Order: sequence, then C-alpha cells, then structure tokens
Amino acid sequence: MRNGLSCRRPRAAVQTAALVLTFALPLAAQGGVIPLPTEIHLGSGWFSVDSAVVIRVPPADRGADAAARHLARLWTRTNGLTLPVRSGGARADTRTIEFRRRSGFTQEAYGINVTRQRITVTAGSSAGMYYGAVSLWQLLPPAAGARQIPVQTIRDAPSYAWRGLMLDSSRHFQSPAFIRAMIDWMSWHKLNVLHWHLTDDQGWRLQIRKYPRLTSVGAWRVEPDGTRYGGYYTQDEVRDIIRFAATRYVQIVPEIDMPGHAQAAIAAYPALSSIDRAPRLPVSSRWGVHSHLFNFEPSTFEFLENVLGEVLQLFPSRFVHIGGDEAVKDEWNASALVQARARKLGIHDAAALQTYFTQRIGRYLGAHHRRSVGWDEILQPGLGHEAIVMSWHGASAARTAAIRGNDAVLAPDPMLYFDHRQSSLPTEPPGRLGVISLQDVYRFEPRDSQLSETQQRHILGLQAELWTEHIQTEHRVEWMALPRAAAVAEVGWSGPQRNWPDFLERLVPMSVRYRAIGLDYADSVFGIQPQLARSAGAVRVTLSNLPELLDAALDITIRYTLDGQEPSPTSARYEAPLSVAVGAEIRAATFVGAEQVSRTWTSHLDAHAGARRTSHELDLCSNNVGLLLEPRGARSAADSPVAVDIMNPCWIYRDVDLGQGREITAAVTALPFNYELGSDAAKIRIGDNRTPAGELEVHIDGCDTASVSLLPLPPAAGAGGLVELPAQTLPPFAGRHDVCLRFARPSLDPLWALGWVEIGT
Ligand code: ACM
Repeated sequence: MRNGLSCRRPRAAVQTAALVLTFALPLAAQGGVIPLPTEIHLGSGWFSVDSAVVIRVPPADRGADAAARHLARLWTRTNGLTLPVRSGGARADTRTIEFRRRSGFTQEAYGINVTRQRITVTAGSSAGMYYGAVSLWQLLPPAAGARQIPVQTIRDAPSYAWRGLMLDSSRHFQSPAFIRAMIDWMSWHKLNVLHWHLTDDQGWRLQIRKYPRLTSVGAWRVEPDGTRYGGYYTQDEVRDIIRFAATRYVQIVPEIDMPGHAQAAIAAYPALSSIDRAPRLPVSSRWGVHSHLFNFEPSTFEFLENVLGEVLQLFPSRFVHIGGDEAVKDEWNASALVQARARKLGIHDAAALQTYFTQRIGRYLGAHHRRSVGWDEILQPGLGHEAIVMSWHGASAARTAAIRGNDAVLAPDPMLYFDHRQSSLPTEPPGRLGVISLQDVYRFEPRDSQLSETQQRHILGLQAELWTEHIQTEHRVEWMALPRAAAVAEVGWSGPQRNWPDFLERLVPMSVRYRAIGLDYADSVFGIQPQLARSAGAVRVTLSNLPELLDAALDITIRYTLDGQEPSPTSARYEAPLSVAVGAEIRAATFVGAEQVSRTWTSHLDAHAGARRTSHELDLCSNNVGLLLEPRGARSAADSPVAVDIMNPCWIYRDVDLGQGREITAAVTALPFNYELGSDAAKIRIGDNRTPAGELEVHIDGCDTASVSLLPLPPAAGAGGLVELPAQTLPPFAGRHDVCLRFARPSLDPLWALGWVEIGT
C-alpha cells in the first residue's frame, strides 16, 4: 500500500510566457533560487565552479565588491568553496564570475548570464548587485561536491517594493546578535523591510537618552511566576544593527506604538496616563488588549516628540511606524482631564480624538521629512495622504486606503500572522492554535482585482508579523519565521508566475542551506504525522506526510528503523501501517531522493503507546481563543505544548469503546491565566467546582450532560509541568461514545489544561 505520497510525477518543463522553470533539470543539478526569478532561460552546458575561478569586480565599486565578497562567503559556508575576489578586468583565458554595473536596471533588479566560461552579474544599483550575488549563490546546489551551474540567462526584478517581516521585541526580547542574524537571512530571501516593534504594554525596548526610566523601569516586568524579565537595545547597539542592515539592503522601520499599547511607558512615567489620579501601573505581564492610553496633555505630546526626535536621529528610514492599533477608548471617555482637552480642541468623540492624535504626530514626522505608518485603525477621515496604512484586519483596509489615495502594506491577520502554528504536527512550538501553513502563506494573493492599475500602485507590498507573546525564544522565532518567510518573499518578489510544487522543490536545497547555516527552521511541511493505535499486544503505527506535500513533483519517501539507528536513504521504506511490538523504538524521517528533509521522529512504543491521546489528538469543544501553551516548568518532550481554548478549557475524545467499566487517567497542567480579555472574561465559566481546587469533569455524549466521573485537581501552587491525576473507573456504557473532558475551577487563575488522557481497561 502506498503512503499516499510516494507517487512520482514525470518531470516536466513548465513554461509561461518568458519563463522556463528550473525543474526541467534533475534535482541534483538545481540550486533552487527563492524567490523565483522573473525570467530564466536555460541553455545547454555548465559553468564549473572550481578553484581556478576568480570573482572580478570593477575597480572602486564598493557595492559590487561587497556583493562579490558576500557571494564568496556564502559559498564557503554552504559549499566549502574558497574563491578569490579581485578588482579589474579578467584575462581572456580565465574562467571568471564578473560583477558589472550598467544602467537600464530598476532599483533592486539584476541580471545573471551564465556561459561555459563566464558568469556575469549585472545591475544598476548596489542592492541589485547584492541580489544577483544571492541568486548566484543559490544557483549552485548546497553540497560540498556540487560544482556545476547550468548555462542560463536570468533577468529579475521585484513585483513589490515592500517585502517585510515584523518582529515583536517587546513581548519577548531578542539579542542584538539575533537581530543581525535575522536581517542576514532576510536578505538572502530578498526581504527588504524589518518592521521592528519596539514598544508595547509588556516592555519598552529602545534606549531614549532623555527619558532613562523608559528602559530602567519600562523594559522590565515581573512574570506570573515572580521572575524578572526584560532587556532593551542601547542606542549604540541600534546604530550597529542599522549599519549592518544597510549592508544587507534591509530597511528598519521602527515602531513606537501610540496612543495604546502604552502601559510600559506609563509605568515609567505615570504622568502620561489617561487615568486621572492614576494608580501606579506595572509593566504588564499579561497578554491581550490593554486599556491604558496616553493622555492629551501638552507635556505628553512633548514627550512623544522628544522620543520620536531620538528615533529619527537613530533610524534613517523614511518610514516611522506609530502603531495606532487597539486603542480602547474607555479611559479617554472617563477622564475629566482628557475630556477637558477634547472640548478645547473642539473634538466630541473618542474616535476623533485618535484621529487628532495620529494627525498631530504625522505632522511632526512630516516636518522632519518622514512618513508615518500606522495599523489600519488610523484609516479615519482626514488621514493625511502621506500616511501609510498597514492592513491587519484582513486586506480590506488596504483596498480602502488605495482607493482613497493612501499607500498601504498588506499584513493581514491571520494569513500573515506567524504566531499561528504552521501544522497540526505535535512538534509545533507554542503559538496560536489555528494553522497557517506554508502553503496558506504561499497562496496569499496581494493583487486586488477590484483596484484599478493606479490604485494598485498604492499597495506597496506585504509583510508577515512575528508577534512574540508565545514565541519566547530566538530558536522559536526562527521556527515560526522559516520557511514561511521564504513564501512571503516569493509572493512579494515573484508575482503571479509563482508555482507551489516548484517552490516546494526549491525548498529542498534551501532547507539544506538553512541547516548549513544553523537556522532553526520548521520542517513541518516535510514532517511526519504519526498515528498510533493498540492492537493485540502490539502497536499499529501509521505514518503520513501532510496533504500539502501531495502536490509536489518530488520523489518523497518515509523511511524508518526499528533498531535505534537514525533513518538513512537505505532504511526500510514505509509503505503501509506497521505492527510493532510493545517495547520497540521506531524512528522515521521523510526523504526526497537521498536527502533527509524532515527531522527524525522517534517514539518509544511503551505500554501507553497508542492508548494515550494528547490534547492535540482530541477535538477542542470550541475555539474562541485557541492557543498552544507550554506547561509551566516544562522540561521534557513529554511536556510538549498543550492545545487549549482559554475561554473554555474543554476537549472531546471521539468514539471511545466504553462497553466495560474503563479506567480513566489524565495528565493536566496549571497555566497562569495572564490574559486581558476585557468584558469577555465574564464569559468564562468559573466557580462551578465541587472539590476545593476544582476537578476534571468527564461527560458522555455532550458536555452539558451530568458528569459521570470527576478527577479532583491538586492545589495549583505546587503543580509545575504535567501532573498525572489518580485514575478513576468509569461506569459502563454500552458501545462507543464521545467523551467530553472539561475543567471546573474556583477562579480564572490558574487555567487548567489537559496534557493527555488515557482510557484503558
Ligand atoms: C495588531 O495585531 N494589533 C496590529
């Protein structure tokens, strides 16, 4: 039996108007450029990259020299090649890679011409030289022995000018070294904007010399477990990052969020608050939409302009992001001080107050030759034409902005919100539960057929968001970003000729480069979905790949071992479900040809294998705010994140045989309930517990039936990681039933969640 994925489609040359895609070649011969170049014309023969090859740059051309040296460095990292870079023209008899500057190319555009004797990279700008170098790097397969680049001609230019990622450094902080590394790999994908979210309720991360408390106070919070968390970027560090970004043609757009998402600043300087006679606020350690806004005092605008003044001195970008999102107006409506200012300004409602705020800050930026960017809440009547709208409530704000004549950037939630997990595999790290797969991102279409050509030109491009409430570590930022950022790059650069199966094919060598460089990318698209079931003393193991891989014209196999060895290209090929003895260990991985493309999945098939269902393998009763959360103090892989709707911690185990009285055991975890939900918090069921610390209720066929069993919870205080609850015996129910498991608890905090459940004999 097939695993459903091992079919081989014959390789075909796919042609569009001016395009010959590289998968007319055997995979081993392809470098696989991402994003796909606009035009590739293949010839016949090869250019051999060996130690006799010299890279040549025009004398005194610093941009070309930097691009050439970058190419040499990248080939050293991924191919172990060392090529010299020399200035000046080539001798006729040497094989050369030559960088040339020519007019007639748009900004960022370049051409590559490969013949048997010579490769020429041509561009009009230094950015174009750099992108030519990056593409040439990717034309060589990333293997130590790979030496041949097919004869071909490439002409390439981007579809969109703004191809970005947003990084939230407020909710969790990343080191300057990580930011530089991220800018580096962004540039290899020809991503050119890093929107840097530097301030929020949970931390102010940018040193402002005039206001030292913004970082001495505002950069630090006390986590729910009592630990102090924080960090900030000094101005020297930021300058260093900006200098580095310039060498990678990445523009950094800083975001100073206002008038909401301001709690860290208000904690540092309480006079900024919109609460009259404000209590002292802490820097928040809660997630969600906070209610604290800057007030309208002249001193507050002076503060903001002073802050922006330092931002403008640091950041050369023409664009400065001023947030504008999720500014709940309750405090403004309640504050006598704000209302008095509003009356003086002749403003009668809170929405108009935000418009005033946006316009006033926009004028300040305009006077300093910068353009303001704001989340789509800024799209109100009277918005200045210079302002750029970042469309996050879907794409509709971008359309409205474009029709009104404002520039816009597409950053829609959920499609480009990379805090969503990217598959349903158990290997995904914490994040939002809804799946936004690599293919979902790839299929995002920035072109809006309802806009005229003139209006289309207001859509500057697109970017994906890395919100980090649940992305605590730098490794996980990389996992959530890659390879989805490669899909963003292709959507933004390559335009309508892009092609999913071909992208997947190019992702194989790209993944090898990620590994060579040490990037912690997600292998989800190639990952293995295991299913374990008990049958007569053995474990039935069913393995599959994700459906989105089905489209690929790749020689995909799953290979496995049962002897503790790592799977290899010669390991047994998975063809049909396996019956494996209890006590054995199975390891499996996905291969494309001889290349292992997924990490190895390992399972010790112990007495519980196939009998336990993790929260991932159950259905959630609802998905209001579905999250994948890490147990507090999680240490082992067994404590992998739990899937929970924080509004309703409730799961359904479908189709369980309850014929004889069966024993139920469960492992649960107490999570901090640190969420700002506004009035929605009142919708969460609490106070229905029957034992002091609450219990896990078991219901049959529906969750509103009377519970058939209760598993009492331990006191939350000591409960780190997963806690196994004492087993209970269920009363017998003839036949198969859906079992509903939900928590009754005395208070919102803690939030109890299910790690796994086992219903045994
Ligand atoms: C946003 O997600 N608050 C822009």
